[in-house]
Amino acid sequence: MKSNTIVVTGGNAGIGRAIATELARQRHHVVIVSRNAAKGKEACDTIKKVTGNPRVDLIEGDLGSIQSVKSIAQKILKHFPDVSVLINNAGIWPQKLEINSDGLEMAFMVNHMAPLILSIMLYKQLKKNRPSRIVNVNAGLYVFGNVDIEKTPYGKDFGKLSTYMNTKLCNIYFTQKFSHIIENSGVTINAVHPGVIRTNLGDSSGIMGLLLRILKRAWAEPEYGAQAPVWLAVSPDVENINGKFFDRFTQKPYAKNALDTSLREKLWDLSLQLASLTFK
Ligand SMILES: NC(=O)c1ccc[n+]([C@@H]2O[C@H](COP(=O)([O-])OP(=O)(O)OC[C@H]3O[C@@H](n4cnc5c(N)ncnc54)[C@H](OP(=O)(O)O)[C@@H]3O)[C@@H](O)[C@H]2O)c1
Repeated sequence: MKSNTIVVTGGNAGIGRAIATELARQRHHVVIVSRNAAKGKEACDTIKKVTGNPRVDLIEGDLGSIQSVKSIAQKILKHFPDVSVLINNAGIWPQKLEINSDGLEMAFMVNHMAPLILSIMLYKQLKKNRPSRIVNVNAGLYVFGNVDIEKTPYGKDFGKLSTYMNTKLCNIYFTQKFSHIIENSGVTINAVHPGVIRTNLGDSSGIMGLLLRILKRAWAEPEYGAQAPVWLAVSPDVENINGKFFDRFTQKPYAKNALDTSLREKLWDLSLQLASLTFK
């Protein structure tokens, strides 16, 4: 099997860490993006030790603002130009309304804008290194999303769970749009629901936090959550599959709320404008 250089955002914890570990175990070169240097270094050191693969690197960077995501993309292009797989795994289930320095709601930024900016900025390099893949770790809950283009990006319709679902729906619209543009380029993009997994996602203090932590005891391990994203990233089974949504290993048709082509185009245009990017 080809040995790829694979970027995994949020590779320091949860599903991302399990993805990075499995890919390193399969002898790929893994580059973890972590916003916390110490956590990132610990993850890299541990993954090297448990897999015996020395090719595990760290990029320190925050996906919480447009400029910091652009700077992560620039670091990847500078230090790891042989990148051929991008796994947009990092995500948040926000427990409070947080507006970032760009005036954007934080889950909209991390769950939608960051994958979009990284994919656009790395695309030329991915194409050069083709066959290449982009995998968006999404969530089955996107089917309950309801995006209001005037409100969702700015947190004006904020709700803890609804914002998570809305921003995951934005990421689905991005997956569809980008797949159309890059069709037959040698680069593919797909989205995947990894399963219901016991991680730090959505953790909070208080009684609701406690209840969620109790509920999570019955959920699957991160290693289980890593299986489908790893498969989409490197398996020959899905070599030419582009623009699809997978519930773990099963391709599923897009839900009704993801079929509004007018909204998809508006969201794409707005996202490019917000990021000050163009893409032809
Ligand atoms: N767990 C589930 O049941 C489930 C179900 C469906 C989909 N998913 C999706 O799976 C993906 C991984 O989530 P998880 O369950 O593994 O959650 P997690 O344990 O909370 O891990 C999330 C990762 O994203 C990183 N991250 C968050 N905000 C960031 C930022 N601003 N800059 C850089 N990194 C940031 C976190 O970094 P820190 O460690 O620094 O916080 C962490 O590495 C997410 O996209 C999530 O929506 C999870």
